[in-house]
Amino acid sequence: MTVYTVDAGNGLAARIARGLGDKLVIFEKKTFPDGESYVRVAEKPEGAAILVHSLYYPQEKRTMELLMAIDALKGIGADVVVVVVPYMAYARQDKRFLEGEPISIGILLRSIEAAGADALVVVDIHKPSVLEEWLRIPSLNVVPYAEVADYFRDRVEDPVVLAPDKGALERAGKVAERLGAEFDYIVKERDRITGEVRAIAKKLDVKDHDVIIVDDIISTGGTMALAAKHSLENGARRVYAACTHAVMVKGALDRLIAAGIEDVVATDTVPSPVSKITVAPSLVEAVKNVMGEIA
Ligand code: R5P
Repeated sequence: MTVYTVDAGNGLAARIARGLGDKLVIFEKKTFPDGESYVRVAEKPEGAAILVHSLYYPQEKRTMELLMAIDALKGIGADVVVVVVPYMAYARQDKRFLEGEPISIGILLRSIEAAGADALVVVDIHKPSVLEEWLRIPSLNVVPYAEVADYFRDRVEDPVVLAPDKGALERAGKVAERLGAEFDYIVKERDRITGEVRAIAKKLDVKDHDVIIVDDIISTGGTMALAAKHSLENGARRVYAACTHAVMVKGALDRLIAAGIEDVVATDTVPSPVSKITVAPSLVEAVKNVMGEIA
């Protein structure tokens, strides 16, 4: 196999290549004066091509690069292209919340398949069922429960793991299970029109515990900050924030620190100052598994 990436930003593609024992090839890329993107691959794959490309900001540009890179690999002769998207953009728009809206993740997944992907590996996609719903090719969703739990194992005392909303409860539960800790969730309501987030207090036994709040994404940090505030008001000793995807916009890190959070940590699906946990070993296993499925 040969591992490809369109830009080797934070070393994740290189770590995956090293884990697989394969070569890493970096695409040539540029932007034309009118803003259009260009990518080119100069080396044919040895066996299957594994394309690693994360869809963080600027999402539209990176999405186009991904689609073009898949097509370029097929064009240069790759029989099999396994696409690894560590952060899948647009995953939160997974249904028509309001009449007249698109199902953005559906369009994106169908486009990846239409471009020529033979399998897709993603990390902690917002709603895993969209993979089966929109794809016919094999797919795998890697969730870094173990990585997050292991990061905190020697850093916390008497931990309690919280999900900032009910939807994130399974993730928090699995992290808690590995730490031998209790878990719970906080009730959050988001106004779909204004985007305003309200936290409704739920009785949590966090007093004198270290609290680890675990979510899939930190974007503005508003959700985590609310959850942290709630925990501190209820007597938590220290509060930590962990997420898979550190999207981190609009001063998120400052908002989190200002909310009293001790440490913020994320995986390396999106490059950021807090992306300290690598998902490379899990992605290596996922690529091997998915290759077994399409062999
Ligand atoms: C929402 O459904 C997600 O799981 C995250 O909780 C949300 O995207 C976090 O956004 P923010 O950091 O802007 O509150």
